[in-house]
Amino acid sequence: MDVIRAAQEMQKQSETWRTEGKTVGFVPTMGFLHEGHLSLIRLAKTFADRVVVSLFVNPTQFGPAEDFNAYPRDEEGDLKKISEEKADAAFVPPASEMYPEGFQTVVQLKEITRGLCGASRPGHFDAVATVVLKLFHLVQPHVAVFGEKDYQQLAVIRRMVKDLNLPIKIVGGATVRSPEGLALSSRNAYLKDEEARRALKLSQAIRTVQGLFHGGETKSVRLKAEAGKILSDPMIVVEYVEIVDAETLKTSENVDRPARLLIAVKIGKTRLIDNGPVQT
Ligand code: PAJ
Repeated sequence: MDVIRAAQEMQKQSETWRTEGKTVGFVPTMGFLHEGHLSLIRLAKTFADRVVVSLFVNPTQFGPAEDFNAYPRDEEGDLKKISEEKADAAFVPPASEMYPEGFQTVVQLKEITRGLCGASRPGHFDAVATVVLKLFHLVQPHVAVFGEKDYQQLAVIRRMVKDLNLPIKIVGGATVRSPEGLALSSRNAYLKDEEARRALKLSQAIRTVQGLFHGGETKSVRLKAEAGKILSDPMIVVEYVEIVDAETLKTSENVDRPARLLIAVKIGKTRLIDNGPVQT
């Protein structure tokens, strides 16, 4: 497996593959890889002849009070995992390669970035859209795979790709969970044992809402209230519990088309998100 650090070299490699008639798949990540990330690499391999995985902890998408410096990193371990999954290249650019001096361009999306996680993380999704668009120009994939775990992020990327006519197929990968139901996340490394136990309430809330919906309850307020009851815990600070349209992320009073339950909480110092489908 190739480890590519220079932006131009990445572009050249992709162009070579393309002239050979190969399709290119891409899995962008911030590293500290777990089974969730690896499942996306496997999924990308089913769509493309060559697969590139990027490792880049993007500084611009962290707020000033967020965990950029503390964010877990393990480049050596990550490269080993990527190679074991038989991806073709790891793209590991230094920040100077992604943001050369004088950088001042931002991709801005409107409504879709304003609510949910965007409300407490102003500028976050614009920074994600900007870095992902840059990565797309460097890796030049035919297909890019993102996790449903970060549901708003997936919706933002789909919107950007549509709005900017990018010739890239966006594939969503299902959330990988621990056997107990906790959605895998690099940030789970921050959780103390008791916090990790309480964090199981997020997936419990999702399963309960899905059960009620399948039992015939379609009123969003009632479904959200039941999720809220499960999340009511002295160790859990709920940031939001929302039921939104699965594509536009707009709220609706009644679930009469494919919807998604989205949850964000803080447990101790750790911010956790999870979500699941609410649809027939
Ligand atoms: P990161 O948090 O490293 O996630 C990389 C990809 O893995 C994302 O598409 C995310 O949704 C997916 N992922 C994370 N946990 C998952 C799980 N348990 N199951 C399935 N997929 C999971 O998301 C980012 O990095 C960054 O914002 C990035 C897109 C790389 C831009 O910097």
